[in-house]
Order: sequence, then structure tokens, then C-alpha cells
Amino acid sequence: MRVIITGGNGYIASLTKKLNPQIEWVSIDRNELDLSNPEAVKEYFENAEFDAVFHTGAMAQTADCENYPELTHRINVESTIEIAKVCAKRNARLVFISTEQVFNGKTEAGPFTEESEPVCVTAYGNHKIECEKYIYANMNNYIVLRFSWMMGLSYPGVRTSPNIIDNVMKAMFYQKPTKFTVNEIRGMTYAKHLAENFAKILELPAGTYHFSNVNKNNTYESAKIVARKLGYSEELIDKYILPNTERYADRFRDYRLDNSKIESCGISLGTFEEDVEECLRDFGYIR
Ligand SMILES: NC(=O)c1ccc[n+]([C@@H]2O[C@H](COP(=O)([O-])OP(=O)(O)OC[C@H]3O[C@@H](n4cnc5c(N)ncnc54)[C@H](OP(=O)(O)O)[C@@H]3O)[C@@H](O)[C@H]2O)c1
Repeated sequence: MRVIITGGNGYIASLTKKLNPQIEWVSIDRNELDLSNPEAVKEYFENAEFDAVFHTGAMAQTADCENYPELTHRINVESTIEIAKVCAKRNARLVFISTEQVFNGKTEAGPFTEESEPVCVTAYGNHKIECEKYIYANMNNYIVLRFSWMMGLSYPGVRTSPNIIDNVMKAMFYQKPTKFTVNEIRGMTYAKHLAENFAKILELPAGTYHFSNVNKNNTYESAKIVARKLGYSEELIDKYILPNTERYADRFRDYRLDNSKIESCGISLGTFEEDVEECLRDFGYIR
């Protein structure tokens, strides 16, 4: 199967390619195709040969989307729509990555199911909602994966995007007191599980799927769990992992995703604690 993967140098793309060498990847990065130019995206896809598209390319930082609304809308929304149009015309499968952030405006608590109505207060999340709406209205052959926050560590050829394990390591290794919010609760999933299940995901019945482990801890507690699993004493943890009580003090954010739909398809995602341990073991930090 020939799969075009956008954002080819990004974390999710590079990890997925590495763990799925059996797929014929056509990997495109910023140098080959600039997603801020939807016309060029349209032309590229109209002339490309492929069976499916894994569209990971995006400006994924919330602050960038708030600060550069027009540019990020072109990258995140307009180019996605051009890709979706070509896929729809050919009935080729599109795997699109959306986010838990589509629920960041909810006043009630998660976990949210695929049927829950998105309510979002940020440009980034609203970009993803706009893409989802286009896909639902115009495509039959799609997978929308709503990710939790993903985590992992870098290694040659794979550079992670910002995540809790990396943030805790920086705090503890460099003895840098770092604040983590107490006013947020979310899944934080080892990205390896996405990559190792990708072939299965490609074959799922069309639809939207939440991709998240189960986490019962707020972000501050989660950070302390990572530090504990790294073997630090409570004294050192309390010195470098600090509670941030101001961030989201206006409204507690609980954007956890209910994962029972994808689990019922045989993709098991476990708990945050299990994921932290697995990642630290994979990279030799614990035995
Ligand atoms: N990681 C998470 O926790 C998470 C959670 C929810 C959803 N997602 C979604 O998952 C997808 C992949 O995320 P990721 O963690 O792999 O992020 P990432 O490492 O930042 O990857 C995104 C890729 O998009 C590329 N890109 C950005 N602007 C571009 C442009 N104008 N033209 C061409 N390429 C461009 C980037 O290229 P450069 O490398 O050249 O900058 C980067 O390689 C994104 O759609 C993100 O919104 C991620």
C-alpha cells in the first residue's frame, strides 16, 4: 500500500514510518510541499499516486495558532480541505489527526466520547473542528483520530514534540524548578502505541476514534509520577516539580477522551502509569 505522509519530519510521522517499514511511504516535508500554500497542495495531490494519506502536518502549537491566525488557518485547515477533496474524488482513505482540544471549552467533566459535542475556546482546536466538519460532510472513506497529548523520547531520526516525560526530565536533570498545572486533567499517551497500531488503524471501519490511555491524575500529579518512576526522592521531586495553581484557575479543564470505541476494535491503550513505565524502560531509564 502506497501512503502519502505529510509533516514527514514531525514526531508522529517519523515514529510511524520507522515502526512500519512494510508500508510504501511517500513522505513529504516542508521543503517538498509548503502547507501554507493550499493551491500548491491541491496541485501536488491531484498529480500524486497513492492509496491512502496520513495527514500529520500541522502547526500544532496553541500559541502559534493564536498569534498567526491567517497563516495557521491556511496550514491547518485550507490545505487539509484540499487533501480531503482529492481523497474524496478518488475514494482514497484519509487518516486525519484531530485532538482532545476540541473539548477544551466544555464546562462538564470528561471523559468525552466520539458522540460528545465539541466545544472549543482556542484557534488550534477550532482549526481541527473545521477540518472534521469538512470531512464528515464530504467524505466516506476517512479515519479521524482524536489524540490525547502524546509522549515519548527522541532517538536518531525521531524528534519528539513537547511532552510530559521530556518536560519532567528537563526539570529533574537540569535541577530547574518547573510548574505544572493542577487545573487540568488529560490523557497522555505513549506515541509508540499509535505507530505500532498504525496498520490496524488503516483498516478500521471509517469514522472518528479517540486515541488516549486512561489517566486519573492532574498534570501536576502526572509530572510527579514521571519523576517517581525515574527514581527521584520525594524531597527532590518537591524541589523541582511545582504546582501551578494559576493556569486554568478560571475553569478546570478536563478533556479526557473515552477510548472504549477504539478498544472495542482490538487496540488496547492501558493507563498513563503503564505508558510512562514502558517508555522509560524502552529508553533504558528503568529496568
Ligand atoms: N503530539 C501531540 O501531543 C498531539 C496531540 C494532538 C494532536 N496532534 C496532531 O498530530 C499531528 C502531528 O503532531 P506532531 O506531534 O508530530 O507534531 P510535529 O512534530 O510538530 O509535526 C508536525 C509537522 O508538520 C510540519 N509542518 C508545519 N508547518 C508546515 C508547513 N507550512 N508546510 C509543511 N509542513 C509543515 C512540521 O514541519 P517542520 O518539522 O519543518 O516544522 C512538522 O514536521 C498534528 O496534526 C498535531 O496537531 C498531536
